[in-house]
Amino acid sequence: MRLSTLLTTTFALSRGVTAFWKGLNVGANNPDGSCKTQAQWETAFKALAGLPPKFTAARLFASSDCNTLQNAVPAAIATGIKLLVGVWTEDAIHYGAEKAALEAAIKAHGCDWMMAVSAGSEDLYRGDTTAATLAGQIHDVRGMVQDSLGCKKVKVGHVDTWTAWVNGANTDVIKACDFVGNDAYPYWQGSTISQSSDVFWTAMNQTRDVVNKVKPGTLVFITETGWPVTGSSFGSSVPSKANAQAYWKSVGCAALKQAHTFWYAYEDYSSNPSFGVIGQNGKAIYSLTC
Ligand SMILES: *[C@@H]1O[C@H](CO)[C@@H](O)[C@H](O)[C@H]1NC(C)=O
Repeated sequence: MRLSTLLTTTFALSRGVTAFWKGLNVGANNPDGSCKTQAQWETAFKALAGLPPKFTAARLFASSDCNTLQNAVPAAIATGIKLLVGVWTEDAIHYGAEKAALEAAIKAHGCDWMMAVSAGSEDLYRGDTTAATLAGQIHDVRGMVQDSLGCKKVKVGHVDTWTAWVNGANTDVIKACDFVGNDAYPYWQGSTISQSSDVFWTAMNQTRDVVNKVKPGTLVFITETGWPVTGSSFGSSVPSKANAQAYWKSVGCAALKQAHTFWYAYEDYSSNPSFGVIGQNGKAIYSLTC
């Protein structure tokens, strides 16, 4: 064990807590729709590491689209950012290309740049697949990553909305997962900003309760949450810089202390609503200090 690892472990044990990954969701497309180059991935990862929480990880949505892994993995290695990799599961041809891109990245760069792999994203929420098909794909990706390619320590799971995880029809997907990625947005539940912390943790707790019953010991990651800085209201949810700031302070700062967390999102300034924390000038739109 290296001294730095020993010190980190001792520190974590002495405080009775695990060190959690602190991440942002990073899209492969720039706000103008173009695909990120390797240099642009590197710019993004440097920005993450330089923000106040000192983000240590990034979640990517796909592997082959925009040559994501081909461009992002060297940038991640150069900047020390670990990746939660996304493998798109729809349709069969796309899924094959995604697996091939992940296989190529592992053959080129080994296993250490990966924090975990998600087979699919919100497929159950969209109703695009069945629990049985998705569970089969999670096993398939795990077989490739852990058995065929030898990345034994890389957890393979799935990301979906809390409403999908608490639906009893999806139990087989939980059983197939090494980790469960939970997406929950009080904004999309029409919550006021003052109720948003309760709404978020109620959703998170419900997912944790179901996962603990179905497969005790399985970690639940926070894979997406955030509050929009601009855009249309949704029910009682109002986007604003002040509300995004308040949501970060109440939910983000608490999340970082109790789960692997991936905030949504790095840049999003051409969307409505717009959830990005980095504006068009390359600076943080609201403060990410805790
Ligand atoms: C969620 O669970 C934690 C730990 O059990 C508890 O302290 C907290 O009050 C719960 N929050 C909500 C909103 O249910």
